[in-house]
Formats: sequence, structure tokens, C-alpha cells
Amino acid sequence: MSKQFDVIVIGGGPGGYIAAIRAAQLGFGVACIDEWKNDKGGPAPGGTCTNVGCIPSKALLQSSEHFEHANHHFADHGISARDVKMDVAKMVGRKDAVVKQNNDGILYLFKKNKVSFFHGRGSFVKAVDGGYEIKVSGAAEEILTAKQVIVATGSNARALPGVPFDEENILSNDGALRIGAVPKKLGLIGSGVIGLEMGSVWRRLGAEVTVLEGLPTFLGAVDEQIAKEAKKAFDKQGLKIELGAKVGEIKTGKAGVSVAWTNAKGEAQTLAVDKLIVSIGRVPNTTGLNAEGVGLKLDERGAIVVDDECRTSLPGVWAVGDVVRGPMLAHKAEEEGVAVAERIAGQHGHVNFNTVPWVIYTSPEIAWVGQTEQQLKSAGRAYKAGTFPFLANGRARALGDTTGMVKFLADAATDEILGVHIVGPMASELISEAVVAMEFRASAEDIARICHAHPSLSEATKEAALAVDKRTLNF
Ligand code: FAD
Ligand code: NAI
Repeated sequence: MSKQFDVIVIGGGPGGYIAAIRAAQLGFGVACIDEWKNDKGGPAPGGTCTNVGCIPSKALLQSSEHFEHANHHFADHGISARDVKMDVAKMVGRKDAVVKQNNDGILYLFKKNKVSFFHGRGSFVKAVDGGYEIKVSGAAEEILTAKQVIVATGSNARALPGVPFDEENILSNDGALRIGAVPKKLGLIGSGVIGLEMGSVWRRLGAEVTVLEGLPTFLGAVDEQIAKEAKKAFDKQGLKIELGAKVGEIKTGKAGVSVAWTNAKGEAQTLAVDKLIVSIGRVPNTTGLNAEGVGLKLDERGAIVVDDECRTSLPGVWAVGDVVRGPMLAHKAEEEGVAVAERIAGQHGHVNFNTVPWVIYTSPEIAWVGQTEQQLKSAGRAYKAGTFPFLANGRARALGDTTGMVKFLADAATDEILGVHIVGPMASELISEAVVAMEFRASAEDIARICHAHPSLSEATKEAALAVDKRTLNF
């Protein structure tokens, strides 16, 4: 006997669990299937984000930042802290506890919203009666049916060809979050988001970190001026980033990992490290879904093909998050999940891809929304730019963190905000004002005229908006 639902969600990451909750709020009978297991074999919903992504990485970033402050910045405040030690096992234990709180939180939310949770792998069996039969393979096997299916099966780390992750020496994001002792030397391939965040954690704790980046430019997707400023800060911190690096043979042994590589000048080099994190992007995951069996169309990257509204090639089947096109971000997955649930209910769910913010949680933080200066130039769009440095912001001085700036880009004729780029303290929080402004299609002048609390970092946002019209008040 199959169990009948209105909506079945396969995958309980930010895309899937949020879609399930929203669909239940709209009155549907909802099942959510997720296969992630905790270390005791029990359910651990929340996906990559909760288990081996956003949440644990931010927990380690926080712990390592405290350590860095105690070692290098407390003295500026007159606090002497001698013999500061990091208990890595305790730090990792705290991170695991934070993850568990989030797993448990999602299980509670499922109960609260009457979402039926199934622990196991979900796969398509066949189309039936205007809907689909889905098999759950877990401790027991069950068959569920529903007219609407939302696939939110996420992504996996991409390995270098011929160099599989062993999570001992060659680490994906999973192993990178479980390193048990500070490596003396740590190597990373790829200076993208994970490379910079994980590199920062272990550098702060004392590892000598080298990042090999294939491209000749640093953070190519980030506004050039902001990327340059961030690179200066990382160089100063001692994070060694080699651009234009061509990675060759990788050998592992008792002594660790040896990476043969060629530098930007074409000179052969060898990097010997205790551990190597490979962070060269992620690939959409449809393993075990039996997508082919039911004719669910995938593209050449293995992503499920969807239209602008997350409809797949099969009627009644939707897909959201990392398994489809677009940025691989938790909040993008969530927005798509909500929009799909609302579309199933006949509402007009909407995601504005132009206002999806990006944040890199390094120190300084990097955050942006909308278009970069180089994108506007290549599109031939007439724009005005305004920047304001944190050096001239009273709160940043009081915090003792004056690195970076806020940058506004606005249309030359209408003054509409086209992009906001921040490198500096709390950029992750400051960017929200820019997102709201852009959602309401505000002008730079609108932000410049809004009263911002003093002293606050957000005054740098207001001043950058004033700078668009060349009338900063404090610089
Ligand atoms: P996932 O979170 O990958 O969830 C998919 C779930 O589906 C998993 O639980 C998986 O086990 C399950 N599943 C897969 N197939 C099946 C099946 N057949 N049956 C049952 N279950 C299945 N994004 C941010 O926005 N901010 C950050 O700070 C951030 N930090 C990150 C740090 C790291 C180290 C990494 C790796 C990623 C980070 N991300 C961050 C990206 C973010 O984690 C992803 O964009 C997000 O998790 C995607 O959500 P999703 O629901 O599409 O997929
Ligand atoms: P990424 O796409 O951010 O960066 C990968 C980097 O590796 C790029 O700079 C690329 O040029 C480089 N690269 C690719 N192949 C290479 C090779 N063979 N040799 C050397 N360099 C090579 O991918 P990353 O860091 O793995 O993260 C995956 C995704 O996870 C991110 O794109 C993002 O979507 C998400 N994420 C988001 C975070 C956040 O929002 N704060 C944090 C961490 C991850």
C-alpha cells in the first residue's frame, strides 16, 4: 500500500525543507524525504548547508576569529592574554553541537508544520495516475505517491580528475570541516569561496596555508576594486594565494601530500603539505534518483533542466537549489523552494535573481548584490560610482577594524542602484540594506537621504551612496 500525499519533496536541505514547510503552510499534505545520516545513523536534515556547509563553516570561522583576536588584537584594547591555546577537539565539538541544534530544529519544524518526514533515499519508480510513485529506501522500504514532486537533491564537491577524496589527506568540504589537529602546512586547490573561508580558519589557527588558483585573476566574479582590496588584506594576513597555477600530479604518502604545479611564469614547483583541500566547485547531485528511468531531463553538467519557474521536463515535477542552474547558495535554494510551493498552490511565487546577495565570510568579509563595474562596462551601461572607506567611519575605528570600503554603482541617468559591493567588517549584515533598496528599485539618492544610526557601520553605506553624487560628508 502506498502512502498518498499532495506534494513529495526529495531532499531536506535548505531548498527542500523550506519548500516542504511552505507547501504545508499552504494546506497541502506533504512528505519530505532526506537521506543524510548523523554519526549514529539517525536523520540529519538540513543538507550540505547544515551538515557540511554554511553552518559548520561559520562556526569554525567564529572560533578561529576569537583565537586570532585573542592573539593579535586584544593587546590594542589593553587586554593581555598570554599563552592562548586552541583546543581543536573542543572547537570541532562545538561546531558539531551547532550542527545538531540545526538538525533538531528542522525535525521540530516538520512536526510543527505537519510535514511527514522519511529518512532514506527517494527515487522515482514510475508515473501513475497523473502523479508519481516514489520509493523511499531507508531502514524500511516504503512507497509514496503524489501529484506534485519537488526535487532538491543538492550538489557534491567536484574532485580533480583522477584524485578522489579520501577525506584523510585529500579533503572535500566534508573532511575540511573535520580536521582534528592544526596541520603545519595546508594546501588548497581553488581560491573560491570555500578556499578562502577554510584557508582563513586554518591560517588563523597557525597553519601555513598555500592556495593554488588556476585562473590568473583573483575572485573573478567579484567587483575588481573590491577583490583587489580583499587580496591586499589576505596577503597581509599571510594567506599565500598563487594565481595562474597549473596543478599537475598529486601524490599522497605517509608524509602527507605532494602537489606538482607550474606557476604563472611557467616554472615547475612542488608543494608539500600535510593536508590538501580541493575546492574547485561543486556538481549537481542526482545520484540514485532514477531520473533517467522516468525521463527527467538533465543538462551536460548533470543539472536538472528547469525553466525560469523551476518546472522540469516532466509535468508536476519541479526542481530547486544546487541541483538546478544558478548560484549554489542556500538562500537562493530557499527562495526557489518557497516560490515553487506557492506556484503549486496557484499563487505567483517569484525569485528575483538580480537581487540574490553573495557573502564570503572571511575577514574582511566580502558581500555584494547586483552588477559589478566590469559587467556594467562590458554591457555599455552608463553608470556613476561612489565609494566610502571604513577608515573614515567612526564605528569602524572604535571597533578597530577599518579595512575596506562600500561601493555603490548607480545608473548615470536615473540614479537607480545597479550594484553594491562591500569589503570590510560585517559586510554580510550591511548588504541587506542594499538588497532591500534594489528590490524597491531605489536610487542612490534614496539611501543618501535615509537617517542611519550613529555611530554605525551602516553610515558607510549612506556615505557611499552620497559619494555617487560626489558629496560625502565625512571624507
Ligand atoms: P543540499 O543542501 O545539498 O541538500 C540536499 C539534500 O538532499 C541532502 O541532505 C542530501 O542528502 C539529500 N538527498 C540527495 N539525494 C537524495 C535522495 N535521492 N533521496 C533523499 N535525499 C537525498 N551557501 C550560502 O548561501 N551561504 C554560505 O555561507 C554557504 N557556505 C557553504 C560552505 C561550504 C563548505 C559549502 C560546501 C557550501 C556552502 N554554501 C553556502 C552552499 C550551500 O550549502 C548550498 O547552496 C545549499 O546547501 C544548497 O541547498 P539544496 O537544498 O539545494 O541542497
Ligand atoms: P568556487 O566556484 O567558489 O571556486 C572554485 C575555484 O577553483 C575558482 O576560483 C576556480 O577558478 C578554481 N579552480 C577550478 N578548477 C581548478 C583547478 N583545476 N586548479 C586550480 N583552481 C581551480 O567553488 P568552491 O569554493 O568549491 O565552492 C563551491 C560553491 O559552494 C561556491 O561557488 C558557492 O556557491 C558555495 N559556497 C558558498 C559559500 C558562501 O556563500 N559563503 C561558502 C562556501 C561555498
